[in-house]
Amino acid sequence: MNQIPTVLYSDQDFKTWAVIGASRGIGLEFVRQLIARGERIIATVRQPFANHATLLWGQAGADHGRCQMFICDVLSEKSIENFVYELAQVPNLTIDYVVINAGVLRYPNRATEVSFDEFAFHLHTNTIGPIITAQKLLQTNIPIGTIVFMSSDSGSAQKFREMEDGQVFLSLNKGGRKTNCDRFAAYAASKAALNQMLRHMAAELKRKDDDTIILAMHPGEVATDIGHVLTGEVEGVITAEESVSAMIEVIQSKGIQHSGTFWTWENKVGPELVRTEDIMH
Ligand SMILES: NC(=O)c1ccc[n+]([C@@H]2O[C@H](COP(=O)([O-])OP(=O)(O)OC[C@H]3O[C@@H](n4cnc5c(N)ncnc54)[C@H](OP(=O)(O)O)[C@@H]3O)[C@@H](O)[C@H]2O)c1
Repeated sequence: MNQIPTVLYSDQDFKTWAVIGASRGIGLEFVRQLIARGERIIATVRQPFANHATLLWGQAGADHGRCQMFICDVLSEKSIENFVYELAQVPNLTIDYVVINAGVLRYPNRATEVSFDEFAFHLHTNTIGPIITAQKLLQTNIPIGTIVFMSSDSGSAQKFREMEDGQVFLSLNKGGRKTNCDRFAAYAASKAALNQMLRHMAAELKRKDDDTIILAMHPGEVATDIGHVLTGEVEGVITAEESVSAMIEVIQSKGIQHSGTFWTWENKVGPELVRTEDIMH
């Protein structure tokens, strides 16, 4: 659906970012900040003319050519393939950073309540779709510097977050309000599976001498629609603006020695994927 002007992509002064799932929340904020930084952006949405994508289209229109919109629904293999095929047609395209941000959190989510379909929905959107999107991008001839998966500390296999099982009340610091931050089972499982798959992806690429860096990131507790879906009264600890400006710096600071590792928006090593000594070797 888009024609990316080749001339823009032959300009070596700026980086090219692809943001998968850019219609709102953290993904939209990536696009906003990257536009402000003068970077080139490939942004994907599911419904280009939906109300929540209007801002993104407006920003792209205001700076025609540097931000290009594509359609990609990670629940559909065909949609992923069409998107990747379109990118593969762009001559001389290099993507410095791919941020696979698409994700869902929906109820019912408890292990004792979730239906087959709802559990599958979380796994398809948060795990399988993102991994297959990365896989298909890696199968093209497009050089890719870094692929970042938007994970979550909810997916930690070692550090079980009791607050997300509804056993304690989570006090969110801004305004000091308390909320019952519960019912994360299917979501947590989907992020745990994502973490494990991306670690294998990094190891497989290393064995093939492929220099693409694979990272997992936790964006913090961010005030977005996913945050608000909790109970309707949750306030995020940080804004999308704070989270994304920090994550851009973290992402850009990582090299091939970090591939397969998990980082938080504060540049702390994630809770379980790596030990500090692992990333030093
Ligand atoms: N907010 C937090 O506190 C937090 C914490 C940890 C991790 N995360 C992760 O951060 C990522 C972004 O979340 P957010 O907080 O920005 O949530 P959000 O505001 O709800 O945005 C979710 C984004 O994912 C897209 N998406 C959902 N299903 C998709 C699909 N099948 N194909 C393509 N795109 C799809 C949505 O597009 P549509 O507009 O088309 O639905 C939207 O752009 C998610 O992976 C989430 O798990 C968030």
